[in-house]
Amino acid sequence: MKKWLMAVLFGAVLVLGACGGGGDDNATDEGGDDTGGETASAAEEIYENNCSACHGADLEGNNGPDLTDVGSKYDADEIADIIQEGTGGMPAQSQVSDEDTETLSDWLAEKK
Ligand code: HEC
Repeated sequence: MKKWLMAVLFGAVLVLGACGGGGDDNATDEGGDDTGGETASAAEEIYENNCSACHGADLEGNNGPDLTDVGSKYDADEIADIIQEGTGGMPAQSQVSDEDTETLSDWLAEKK
């Protein structure tokens, strides 16, 4: 019984550790995941300019919800819709161009 519990806890720590990367240094491109570093940093810049005030500099949430695992909830198309149309308490971000919306939603869809 106890061993089983330890294994579960240990597993959870590993998972949390693996996802905990990020850090607060926005300037460095972590290059991570399977999106190219270039796309990621372009997306990060769009995010910073248009979304970070409400969703936090590291996607951790502020007035708006945490987006760190938004990709497990929505696919890129749905995220693009939310950006362009808004949702609930979020106003439409129509200042973001179609191209930037696509870059940004592809990047966010990888966050799971
Ligand atoms: C003025 C503040 C504000 C800005 C700017 C903003 N959001 Fe939001 N966002 C919110 C709020 C508030 C919600 C919650 C809406 C609700 O469900 O009522 C939300 C919800 C979302 C959701 C759905 C989250 C979920 O778990 O259902 C996504 C995705 C999202 N925002 C992405 C973005 C992106 C991408 C940008 C930048 C282009 C952005 N938001 C800019 C306030 C903002």
